[in-house]
Amino acid sequence: MSELTLDPADVTAALRRNLDGWEPSVEAETVGYVTAVGDGVATVSGLPGAMASELLEFPDGLIGATFNLDPGEIGAVLMGESSHIEEGDEVRSTGRVLSVPVGDALLGRIVDSLGYPIDGKGPINTSESRLLETQAPSVVQRQPVKEPLQTGIKAIDALTPIGRGQRQLIIGDRQTGKTAIVVDTIINQAGAGVKCIYVAIGQKNSTVAGVASVLEKAGAMEYTVIVNASAADAAALQMYAPYAGSAIGQYWMYKGEHALVVFDDLSKQAVAYRELSLLLRRPPGREAYPGDIFYLHSRLLERAAKLSDELGGGSLTALPIIETKANDVSAYIPTNVISITDGQIYLEADLFYSGLRPAINAGQSVSRVGGNAQIKAMKDIAGPLRLNLAQFRELEAFAEFGSELDATSLAQLERGRRVVEVLKQGQFEPVPIAEQVVVIFAVTTGYMDGIEVSQIAQFEADLVDHMRTRHNSLLDEIAETGRMDVNAVAAAVEAFAESWTSDGT
Ligand SMILES: Nc1ncnc2c1ncn2[C@@H]1O[C@H](COP(=O)(O)OP(=O)(O)OP(=O)(O)O)[C@@H](O)[C@H]1O
Ligand SMILES: [Mg+2]
Repeated sequence: MSELTLDPADVTAALRRNLDGWEPSVEAETVGYVTAVGDGVATVSGLPGAMASELLEFPDGLIGATFNLDPGEIGAVLMGESSHIEEGDEVRSTGRVLSVPVGDALLGRIVDSLGYPIDGKGPINTSESRLLETQAPSVVQRQPVKEPLQTGIKAIDALTPIGRGQRQLIIGDRQTGKTAIVVDTIINQAGAGVKCIYVAIGQKNSTVAGVASVLEKAGAMEYTVIVNASAADAAALQMYAPYAGSAIGQYWMYKGEHALVVFDDLSKQAVAYRELSLLLRRPPGREAYPGDIFYLHSRLLERAAKLSDELGGGSLTALPIIETKANDVSAYIPTNVISITDGQIYLEADLFYSGLRPAINAGQSVSRVGGNAQIKAMKDIAGPLRLNLAQFRELEAFAEFGSELDATSLAQLERGRRVVEVLKQGQFEPVPIAEQVVVIFAVTTGYMDGIEVSQIAQFEADLVDHMRTRHNSLLDEIAETGRMDVNAVAAAVEAFAESWTSDGT
């Protein structure tokens, strides 16, 4: 038996040989695997270093994002067709957080929630991008709204005016003209220097194509981007779409420009969020929505702002849309969003079917900050307008019962009928603010009292025509200075009203 001898020097040399060339690695593990998959979500193991909202790569280019970060397991949402994904498939973390391309190159384009073009017009050439989730501007970075965002809709610009940087909710049952209002508002931004983002969530692709073609025909796509996450798209895409739209708008806001983002609609986005949360076993709360649904919407809408002058004074105005069921504004999502926004425009099916379009319930609609942004001329006549409408609503109820009304009440009732008539407006006919002022001035001052209600629309159209051709300088003055030469306008309207006949002679 030979003796086993061990020379320490040999051992050291052997260890050296093995250790040379070994470098400690602190790289995070970047490949995990699917442990379960289905219905647009997956759970993934083996990615302990993943971040919140991190982009994940699944087989065949499918993109996902982290949603739940539990110890030992990640809940991921999938942004596309996922039937090919199986248990055990590899998942790569990317170290990147969800973002969208931003910039003027997006104008005129239709993109999905990740900013990929879906309009067949080729790639979008922009080098800049923004994170989907970002911090909202803080208190000191903001200032109160002070410039108007004209919608071109008389009932809104007069009674519930919107300022740049404001968040104004549009709420109503299905088919009450919600989309019509935002589309007209976008069309009315032509030449106003406001870039628009229309975010379509959970709609039919054909409906969105309809909106795109209306905007295209009106020349509005030049300054508009459409973000579309349709009803047929993955729930994750529907959930992230408003964040993408708001990130695109924030880019312009931080550059000192003005942008308008429309979310059509947040009810469907909330449903997509609820679906994903339930699938990934977040505890459900009221109406089965997860407890942080309020936070989901508040952190989205807080990103709309009017920035301070030091930050360039840019603005992002947000018009979220909420669909109610049977006029129930006290349901969970409607009450949440009402409390987060600076006011709401409330549309009613009854009004819509009675022919009052846009079907705005003026009594229940408010704008808490927009009045500060209203031009002086409009502010001056909005008071009498509100009064006329309020008196009318009160008397209307009496008149229905056939009660005898005294002469003053009758006159108020008749005035009210004409005011209501003037506030009616067709689709795709935004009215410039100066013309709105003149028309509302004319009706609230009584120049239309002698006109048959059925002829008001014609009178209004002829009056506007007359002002454009004969008194354009008065209109220009209102548009440019925000003030109206009351005496001159009164004289012009009076002379016109005296000579006006319904047959246009
Ligand atoms: N001011 C208006 N004058 C005449 N028709 C209008 C007006 N506004 C909307 N409409 C018509 O009413 C219908 C419903 O309008 P719209 O699609 O805007 O409603 P919505 O509330 O967005 O509906 P949905 O719930 O389906 O999204 C459309 O056919 C539209 O053309
Ligand atoms: Mg709609």
